[in-house]
Amino acid sequence: MAIRWAKKIDSLSESMTVAVSDRARELQQRGVKVVNLGGGDPDFDTPPHIVEAAVSALNQGLTHYVASKGIPELRKAITAKFQRENHVAYDPDTEVIVTASGKLALYMSLAAIIEPGDEVLYFDPAWVSYEPMIRMLDGIPAGVPLRPEDNFTLHGDVLKSRITPRTKAMILNSPNNPTGRVLTRDELNVVARSAQEHGYWVLSDEIYEHIIYDNRQHISLASLPGMHDLTVTLNGMSKAYAMTGWRLGYLGAPASLCEQILKVQQHVVTCAPSFVQAAGVAALQGPQNCVAEMVAEYDRRRRFMTEALNALPGVHCPLPEGAFYLFPQVRHRGMDSNALAKFMIEEAHVAVTPGAAFGKTGTQNIRLTFATSMANLRQAAGQLKAAMG
Ligand SMILES: Cc1ncc(COP(=O)(O)O)c(C=O)c1O
Repeated sequence: MAIRWAKKIDSLSESMTVAVSDRARELQQRGVKVVNLGGGDPDFDTPPHIVEAAVSALNQGLTHYVASKGIPELRKAITAKFQRENHVAYDPDTEVIVTASGKLALYMSLAAIIEPGDEVLYFDPAWVSYEPMIRMLDGIPAGVPLRPEDNFTLHGDVLKSRITPRTKAMILNSPNNPTGRVLTRDELNVVARSAQEHGYWVLSDEIYEHIIYDNRQHISLASLPGMHDLTVTLNGMSKAYAMTGWRLGYLGAPASLCEQILKVQQHVVTCAPSFVQAAGVAALQGPQNCVAEMVAEYDRRRRFMTEALNALPGVHCPLPEGAFYLFPQVRHRGMDSNALAKFMIEEAHVAVTPGAAFGKTGTQNIRLTFATSMANLRQAAGQLKAAMG
């Protein structure tokens, strides 16, 4: 008798961003020069003072299990950061948890909240992992469609139409992957009013908060009146400090919910890696000009690539407000986003992610990252022009 595995995992599709990178690698191995704009990993090295803090921690023997919620120095640094930058007060002992990645912070929070059959709202298009995470935990994903024609603006009536008695939580992401939108205070007020009226948790994924342009302001949902006790603020070191491989994230939440999330952490990973947490302290307490320098470079690339894409026939590319992705609408020979991504990698040798990977509303869009060198972007722009022009 064949022993089966879980149907709910079997039904998940593989990550499209990983599949695109695999195909790019395959072509590269055959000698084809592919520019990979499919992923979301900063091309910068982690700043040296952060690396040195980890090396020093290793040399001092910080190689054992530590407190499950994180080392006190890092929890204090996170609390100070939440207060200074986000105007949210969290208690370092009861309302902050250090996690082994932003991804895990989100998954564990959902695990602590969702009962089978609970509905979880998220904005469509959305980052590829939200829907699978909800499904893995027996929740029901409830996409709130945002329209590209409207620059993915959130309207209260659309949100209201997706709320049911089973609505238990919402995942919010600003600055947004893939659209590049930064939610305005008015849009955040729509969310805050709805969460308070209907009584649901909001998981606010703020991992791109520092990657923001044109003097826009990132507003943390938990800082809005009445939202501290309904919000889980999710963040991590990956994007701001070019630390994707370190796997370090954190969250702030009301003490009663933190207690529940901590139980999940204790049984799943015990704690985030100890010496990596020492690097986290250096990241948050050290000089911040490294972040500003990376953002200035992203800004330069953002402008270059937006202009280059808009010069192509059939392409409409809004200038992203935050994060490091472009999400243009492309009309080319009647192709949908999957066909477009295939055409771009096979004909133009530029790897991009089809909009369909992010939900139902981006099926005429593709996503390209500009977290890669200017030389790569110039090459990609030239190859796309040759293939499409
Ligand atoms: C919107 C969003 N949230 C969370 C993450 C997770 O980041 P990490 O697990 O590296 O902290 C990512 C990574 O791509 C992301 O794009």
